[in-house]
Amino acid sequence: MADIFAKCHSYEDVKRLQSLGLYPFFRPIEKTSGSCVTAHGKLCVMIGSNNYLGLTHHPRVKEAAKRALDHFGTGCTGSRFLNGNLVLHEELEHNLARFLKKESCLVFSTGFLANQGTLSTLVGRADVLYCDRENHASIIEGTRIALGDTIKFRHNDMKDLERVLEQTRHKYEGALIVADGVFSMSGDILNLPKVIELAKKYTSRVYVDDAHSLGVLGPMGQGTEAHFNHLSQADVVMGTFSKSFASIGGFVAGPAHVINYVKHKCRPFIFSAAMPPAAAATVLECLKIVQEEPEHLRNLWTNVRKMRKELNLIGYNTLNSRTPIVPLFIGDDLTAFSFTQKLYERGVFATPVAKPAVPEGFALIRTSYMATHTQRDLDYVLEVLESLGKQYGLLGQVVHPNFEPAHLRKESYVSAQAR
Ligand SMILES: Cc1ncc(COP(=O)(O)O)c(C=O)c1O
Repeated sequence: MADIFAKCHSYEDVKRLQSLGLYPFFRPIEKTSGSCVTAHGKLCVMIGSNNYLGLTHHPRVKEAAKRALDHFGTGCTGSRFLNGNLVLHEELEHNLARFLKKESCLVFSTGFLANQGTLSTLVGRADVLYCDRENHASIIEGTRIALGDTIKFRHNDMKDLERVLEQTRHKYEGALIVADGVFSMSGDILNLPKVIELAKKYTSRVYVDDAHSLGVLGPMGQGTEAHFNHLSQADVVMGTFSKSFASIGGFVAGPAHVINYVKHKCRPFIFSAAMPPAAAATVLECLKIVQEEPEHLRNLWTNVRKMRKELNLIGYNTLNSRTPIVPLFIGDDLTAFSFTQKLYERGVFATPVAKPAVPEGFALIRTSYMATHTQRDLDYVLEVLESLGKQYGLLGQVVHPNFEPAHLRKESYVSAQAR
């Protein structure tokens, strides 16, 4: 027998990094304007956030949040199912469904709960979930709880998806293909048209996590479907309010009978307190702003194009990203931590991505850009990245074509029951 806390006692990774002065996580931010933050008294340009449209500090958004705070108080103190359902939640669901051209929508307290809860509610014992290997952790948590099997396919590899569908689809009743619309670490965009085609061919449904696509892709920021001009073709779209929509919360949108089922069966929805009023009001206002003020989306893409072009010219390997998430390939974990620390010392706040999020030797710095970064901010970031890139010998690196981030490279088949 052993003490259940023994593993905590022998956990040394954090201490080791701290003793080297390279621990890059949980840096407390004292002040923020969105695109710039102050941490430990140091003013930095923020290139590590998901605040793509910069709406956290938009005057209309802050006013809406204050009004809701005054009107409804600070919290809902209960589940929407019982005592925490506000008119704001319902208005938000209605407006989001209309924005996304879906029949119905359900708002959760976080995006994590939306994924974990909806997937585990929909995938029954005789069903199967086909899951891209680079999907977000909240999807993986959903597959762990779901009673049915999960089968993983190689990241955004439609040949591999067809291979697993062909070999296994006949063994199951229902099937759901699940993937991020924009993958959160690499910034890749899902090949949604092909996923939809394969889903039709193999009688499956499609669920797209648009956490990083909402507010970003498509002419009005409606996400991955709009990017491919395929509005209304994915069966369920999931999203979060913790990125472009400047708040916290999440949702799923899809056919009314599916949303109604989730609403009455999903434990993480029913047994968790509702999204706070100020958060719901924030998202309602953001939704209006993305439709009324297209300049935010325009500015975002101007900044993203500039950074992608300049970073590639400098010689960084950006893994062919096509979105505001622009990863910089570093390689070794410790180098990524040291590089992050040097960036911070020079006034640039970025985040490293190391093992186990990527395999050993494939560490990245995940940079991301915002509509509200000024040209001065971006030029400064480029100047620092160029000088540190040279210093660390990172420019001109080539990545093996089989590079596949994430928790994978294990077996192609994962059975939920076997775990
Ligand atoms: C792709 C993806 N899905 C879901 C989530 C979870 O969203 P939330 O922050 O609202 O819990 C995230 C957040 O990091 C994400 O990146």
